[in-house]
Amino acid sequence: MTPSIQLNALARNWALTPSATNPSVSAEAVLAFHTQVPGYNETPLHTLPDLASSLGLGHVLLKDESDRFGLPAFKILGASWAVYRAVCSRLNLGPATATSPDSSNKIIPFADIGAAAREKGIHIITLTEGNCGRAVARMAAGHLGLRTTVYVPSYMDALTRSKIRGEGAEVVEVAGSYDDVIPVALAAAAAEADNAIMVMDVGVEGCDEVPRYFVQGYGTMLAESDRQVLGVTGDRPTTHAVVPVGAGSIGEAVTAHFKSAARSTGTAHRPTKVIAVEPTTAACLFESLKAGKSVSVPTGDTIMCGMNCGTLSTTAWPVLRDGMDASVTITDLEAHDAVRELTARGIHAGPCGAATLAALKRLCEDHKKELDLDENSVVVLYCTEGTREYLMPS
Ligand SMILES: Cc1ncc(COP(=O)(O)O)c(C=O)c1O
Repeated sequence: MTPSIQLNALARNWALTPSATNPSVSAEAVLAFHTQVPGYNETPLHTLPDLASSLGLGHVLLKDESDRFGLPAFKILGASWAVYRAVCSRLNLGPATATSPDSSNKIIPFADIGAAAREKGIHIITLTEGNCGRAVARMAAGHLGLRTTVYVPSYMDALTRSKIRGEGAEVVEVAGSYDDVIPVALAAAAAEADNAIMVMDVGVEGCDEVPRYFVQGYGTMLAESDRQVLGVTGDRPTTHAVVPVGAGSIGEAVTAHFKSAARSTGTAHRPTKVIAVEPTTAACLFESLKAGKSVSVPTGDTIMCGMNCGTLSTTAWPVLRDGMDASVTITDLEAHDAVRELTARGIHAGPCGAATLAALKRLCEDHKKELDLDENSVVVLYCTEGTREYLMPS
């Protein structure tokens, strides 16, 4: 059997210090922003005590992103902050809650930003496997009233396209995989340089500012879960975080959060271990950690649609390379079994979200010791999406 777990011993004691290419942004500022977006809700953290005891762990907790601002995935956290920051920056508006909270923490009203952006003819362009495009469209077209175009791979199903259109965006199909869509969308944005803003959650050469906003936006999920974890464990912090990886931005956010130098200084606890999960058919992080450099992989079909990326974000790779403790690949069948296992416990996860449980089970089979997984562990599964239809794997 091909190895499905890649350990990264170098990450054990690594800590992230903010730098020019990796600036820190106040998590309070981002949270303050999100609490003012219409429909803000804190998502639940479920406890899974029977799973914890069967795996010999202290706690297994699941951060459930199946309903975030009324959308079935975590992406809107990054997309809303990214669109807000990118549009404000283009309009030279701000910095209200842009990088740090001021005394009022008030954001610039969306109606004002939308009106100013429409007057300038601003057009938002993005690309997607599904969740990101819908989330960008919700913020850009829905909240700001801006013209929004979403580029999608040709194999995207009709239901997903219609959901993106339902948010008020135009959908443009590109032949090929997600990786093939990127240059087409970038070229479309470049062709109308003054008006277009490219809002993508994956960094590529020469385009890294907006992807960083996405990563900052995911900080709200982490701030919430840190507080919730202490509440349910009697003040014991997260010891292990498991996160699904596609192009790597959510993995970057989780790694940067738990491995930040500020967090590791002065704590009596061992640094939190961060573990990535990917589909076997799109394991670009797994292969990159193995190669010691970012490599692209050909992608196939998978029910874990949001994770179906063959190349890591250029902004995510350095953080994942240095700070990700392990990478696990799983099959569609394992993801599907995990969906069913969670459904039986009343948690309505989609395959990307449930993949975290499948990865934890894999690790507990024979890598517990290397990763300090034991009865003192507080494991958080970042379950990034809710139930959705998919073709049953066999
Ligand atoms: C539900 C879900 N989980 C995980 C991911 C992976 O996120 P990233 O591309 O930031 O690694 C995605 C990406 O779209 C997603 O939609």
